[in-house]
Amino acid sequence: MIKHAIVEKNSILLTVLVLVVVAIGGIVELAPLFYLESTIEKVEGMRPYTPLELSGRGIYIREGCYNCHSQMIRPLRDEAERYGHYSLAAESMYDHPFQWGSKRTGPDLARVGGRYSDEWHYAHMRDPRALVPDSVMPGYPFLATTPLDGSDIAAHLESNRIVGVPYTDEMIANAASDLAAQVDPDSDEVEAFLARYPKALVRNFDGDPKMISEMDALIAYIQMLGTLVDFGSYKAEGENLR
Ligand code: HEC
Repeated sequence: MIKHAIVEKNSILLTVLVLVVVAIGGIVELAPLFYLESTIEKVEGMRPYTPLELSGRGIYIREGCYNCHSQMIRPLRDEAERYGHYSLAAESMYDHPFQWGSKRTGPDLARVGGRYSDEWHYAHMRDPRALVPDSVMPGYPFLATTPLDGSDIAAHLESNRIVGVPYTDEMIANAASDLAAQVDPDSDEVEAFLARYPKALVRNFDGDPKMISEMDALIAYIQMLGTLVDFGSYKAEGENLR
């Protein structure tokens, strides 16, 4: 008791001791992060974005789609029933920055890939009210007529590699041809492209083979969202949803 009075009457000593106690808590939480190789459970099927998907993701960010759409299904029953299996950390490990979002004016898009046809997305992007009369989503008709600027795609892959996405030298060297191959099923490059990016969709996403448009890139991105992990075979620890 007497000793405690010393601490209470000496503000400097109290401050130092408070800092020591708080630091212990901090060290316990932070120290393991320095020797753990990864805090993200590895999940089969995850691969870096293809050059076209990465460009589409850039358009998604440029147009501010994240202001109205989240990409993060929470482990709650109603969400899992509406959108599908809750999101895994590994599913956004190649996202820099991640697109979890914080507002759902529109539905979550984490697993929207494959839910609609390309034609649906094309029509919906151009004029959402043509398909959903009450929609408050803005139209983006200019995406279909704007050629995709792929001139700096290799640099985009490279900068993603700097922050930890495992793009290989081969992927970076072939970025421009991979971008073109994904919208051209007849191209000779398709086989090599698919070897680099397993499960990638190869087709003309906007139905116009004459030009690679921003619409091609955005639809390619939307159509792959949430499709890489096979949840038929994946079981999370302690899984009890779905
Ligand atoms: C102002 C808010 C807003 C913005 C910005 C917005 N959306 Fe939407 N989005 C909505 C709403 C509301 C819906 C639901 C009605 C509908 O389908 O149009 C929707 C629906 C969708 C759907 C269908 C999802 C489903 O499961 O039915 C997709 C895909 C989509 N948006 C993609 C996009 C993309 C890509 C962008 C950016 C280019 C974007 N949205 C920008 C509000 C928005």
